[in-house]
Amino acid sequence: MPIPESFLEELNSRTDIVDLVSSYVALTKKGNKYWGLCPFHSEKTASFSVSPDRQMYYCFGCHKGGGAINFVMELEGLGFVDAVDVLAKRAGLQMPETTPGDSSTRKKRERMLSLNKEAARWFHANLSLPEARDGVTYFRNRALSPRTITRFGLGYALEGWDNLIRAMAEKGFEKAELLEAGLAVKNSNGRIYDRFRHRVMFPIIDVRGNVIGFGGRVLDDSVPKYLNSPDTLVFNKSRNLFALNMAKKTSLGRIILTEGYMDTIALHQAGFDCAVASLGTSLTEDHVKLLSNYTSEVVISYDGDQAGIKAAQRAISLLSKTGMKVRVLKMKNAKDPDEFIKKFGPAAFADLLEESDNDVEYRLNQVKSKYDLTADDQRISYLKEAAAVVARLDSPVEREVYSTRVAELAGLSSAAMQEEVKRLRSKSRWKQRKVEERRALSPAQASQPEDRSLRYDNVPSAKAEEGVIRLLLLDEDFYEPAQSLKPEEFSSPTWGKIFSLLMEHWKQGTPCTGASLAAYLTPEEMSLLARIREVPESVGQGRQAMADYIHAIQRQRTADNDEALMKFRYSKKSNGGT
Ligand code: GTP
Ligand code: MN
Repeated sequence: MPIPESFLEELNSRTDIVDLVSSYVALTKKGNKYWGLCPFHSEKTASFSVSPDRQMYYCFGCHKGGGAINFVMELEGLGFVDAVDVLAKRAGLQMPETTPGDSSTRKKRERMLSLNKEAARWFHANLSLPEARDGVTYFRNRALSPRTITRFGLGYALEGWDNLIRAMAEKGFEKAELLEAGLAVKNSNGRIYDRFRHRVMFPIIDVRGNVIGFGGRVLDDSVPKYLNSPDTLVFNKSRNLFALNMAKKTSLGRIILTEGYMDTIALHQAGFDCAVASLGTSLTEDHVKLLSNYTSEVVISYDGDQAGIKAAQRAISLLSKTGMKVRVLKMKNAKDPDEFIKKFGPAAFADLLEESDNDVEYRLNQVKSKYDLTADDQRISYLKEAAAVVARLDSPVEREVYSTRVAELAGLSSAAMQEEVKRLRSKSRWKQRKVEERRALSPAQASQPEDRSLRYDNVPSAKAEEGVIRLLLLDEDFYEPAQSLKPEEFSSPTWGKIFSLLMEHWKQGTPCTGASLAAYLTPEEMSLLARIREVPESVGQGRQAMADYIHAIQRQRTADNDEALMKFRYSKKSNGGT
């Protein structure tokens, strides 16, 4: 059973999109709209608009759009139901039960989250016990201030087999629940005991503020150094980043990506409140998507060892795919950011941030390290591979600078390098021109939706279909004349679907605004809807426009049918005809 319509209506009426968006984006009012920097792509001038009348947002830069629910889905990386849940909490509404399975999973998740929260409180409260002296001493030796310990909710898991199990039993949680949450383990004899014992504890908190898991570190050199929660109903380490709940609020304008809990904490303590850590796994596409919700620039600050360099290269290629600005910190005389800050202080780290390589330089260095530049043939291979990196730069000045540098390193003339870069560029320009020519041959291309899965088969008809939908959303008066259209007459399945949704709502006496269609449409379809609403339409001439649109759609339909008929006849003829 989906979420009841009446609930979504109530939710939409209690949610003001301007209010909602303002808690993430600084908005300025201009005309009948609010404008701000788009949270979904990187930009310097505001092309993100929020319309209080329509309760929808639309970005003229990246073409993302929708209503309040879409905004939360996109920004927090949540599914429809979870986004509704967030908005419901915000509006003080009780979420309705959906499917039985659904509600039992939701209850289980909520129960696990409250267990995690209690456990985190308990670990933290332990620090004031005499038995936790080792833990407190450990944090002190690592120069963590009491304030940092409180801010991160750090704690200590006592020695002994079942301290947590007993403490949580007092709060009403059963052993089985601790097992499922990864807080307890069962050995082969069936004995159940605390997973984390005699370790300092790092709670992992998601962007919504839930404690979803833990990392626990030994106090000495024993192994394993870190023990992390396993993946559970509420925790997936390839989808969460440590400290993103804090870093998402940074005003530093970028995010520093580190490998370790301690690196991130040390950076926050030193004033770099934009640090996050991947949780002992290599960066995934989900991590990247999550990051891109909150920043347009990532500074990779991994360990300086071989493994760190490899991980950084992987991270660069994943991150740059999204168009984010990526830089790599070049750590000198320290193995990781934590050690660097301790040795040289925050100011030195700030310098390091400023001078950190842009990824061109990093890539060139990586290319260089693959070759032995004292061997002739290797120098040439180096130059060729480096030229491929340089050829992709847009700025001629940059190309010149890097060409010269590469040539110098290779001990070859800078003319040779520039020649190679030019050759590669004209090759790729030729390819590019081909693409553009093909596009110019079909002007219809320009009218197509961004999303390829929503391509229009019949552009003139789809444009008229857009118009019909726009008018319906603009004024209730247009429903009446639109009744002469049938959803089957639409050439675009998306517009056909939206049309019948709108008509149905209207017939039932509950005409809907664009925003409330989020329950039925994909985010891509919602974006498309938000986009067409931006095209000006005069309500005054709306009746005539509606008639024209309907006529255009029906005429196209007839033309299609004629063509189909022709094809049919022709194929019969060529088959010998009967
Ligand atoms: P410190 O040694 O306390 O400074 O830790 P660190 O944060 O610098 O960690 P390190 O660079 O050794 O490792 C980076 C991250 O990998 C850690 O923060 C953990 O998330 C993870 N990690 C390290 N060691 C282990 C381990 O033994 N097991 C697991 N599961 N994860 C680990
Ligand atoms: Mn470290």
